[in-house]
Amino acid sequence: MSAPLLPGAGERRALADALEDARRSTRRLIEGLGEDDARRQWDLAFSPLSWHAGHVAWQEEVWVLRRAFGHAPIDPRLDGVYDSFSSDKPSRGRRLPSLGEIRAYADVVRTRVLEALDRTGAAREPDLVDRGWCFRFLANHERQHAETMAVIRLLAGRPLEGLPPAMSAAPRERGWIDVPGGRFVLGADDDPDGWDNERRAHEVELPRFRIAAAPVTNGEWLAFIDAGGYSDDRLWSRAGIAWRRAVRAMAPLHWSRERRGWTRRTLAGSRPVDPSHPVAHVSWFEAAAFARWAGARLPTEAEWERAAAGNDAGGRKRRWPWGDDPAGVSAANLGMRAGDTTPCSTDFAGNVWEWTADAFAPYPGFTPGHYRGYSAPWFDGRHRVLRGGCHLTHAALARTTFRNWFEPGTRAFPAGLRLAS
Ligand SMILES: [Fe+2]
Repeated sequence: MSAPLLPGAGERRALADALEDARRSTRRLIEGLGEDDARRQWDLAFSPLSWHAGHVAWQEEVWVLRRAFGHAPIDPRLDGVYDSFSSDKPSRGRRLPSLGEIRAYADVVRTRVLEALDRTGAAREPDLVDRGWCFRFLANHERQHAETMAVIRLLAGRPLEGLPPAMSAAPRERGWIDVPGGRFVLGADDDPDGWDNERRAHEVELPRFRIAAAPVTNGEWLAFIDAGGYSDDRLWSRAGIAWRRAVRAMAPLHWSRERRGWTRRTLAGSRPVDPSHPVAHVSWFEAAAFARWAGARLPTEAEWERAAAGNDAGGRKRRWPWGDDPAGVSAANLGMRAGDTTPCSTDFAGNVWEWTADAFAPYPGFTPGHYRGYSAPWFDGRHRVLRGGCHLTHAALARTTFRNWFEPGTRAFPAGLRLAS
């Protein structure tokens, strides 16, 4: 390997800001929680909130202090608590330190990590600090955990304070975008925030297709419910029928039918189902059934990325749907500012994750990154890819080439769909 490129002063400042920004989200998500709520496992699929708060700090200690700089462990017992590959979820709550202890540990680690950032030339493993890799990875890792923590608070019925009031809009006609066929470069090789599964960038041939200008709305989903979509087996795959029966799905997760109409649980508390918002918290099975009912289908990953990133014959792709400047984000509903969906717009980023037709699979030439367990264990043919980020997602993770993946029955995250044909 060639000599590592050490981050310059401007980049070090940006990395320190990214780490602090991620930490503000983590703190906000444990704010106002009692010890019991923080330790409780609210859902079998998720660890307790305080596990996440400790785990992100422990990962910083492991990657920066121990691996990159060769420090001894601060407390070797923590490895058995915070290692997601060796500690099993149901037992995590019992062994967790208190919130106060977790905060103190996270502060000690963070102080040393920021010191390390100022002396990357002294790293024992220069690969890990090349272009500031481990610092950038840790900021994005913490942002991903923040999104999971927000989802857990939602499952727990523990709203966040200080969120803006709900937004509404007049329902609109669904427009379509006609995309001409041609060759398209899928993925990205050199995005500094990119993960291993976005590489290698490679050409694919796409036939001409149409993709909806906006995601499916709650209003359209209500029509699907009223038309008996949940009980019409012709719309569902066999696996979808089995899933629907097992969880007795009759509406999206967090919806309930009250005397005065449908309401949904949000991070801002209970709100009426607004027909102008995109549908959220549906599984891949529900999304596929809806698409069939609507006489359409889910887009492929390549179609989604082609429509979101553009590529004018041989031209460049956009890093975000709005361009290459992350500050252009102000229009998209990202970053937990609203704490809820907002009326459907034509944004490809934010509001709800969008299910695609494809199973999560490696691109040709895939090699695992430093964090080997990030992608490869999930290339199992069962997980499906989602694109675009939701209102809880940080903008750095809503890039046009970013790939998320869940099992097809997952509904905990705000995921909806966009139709294609
Ligand atoms: Fe993690």
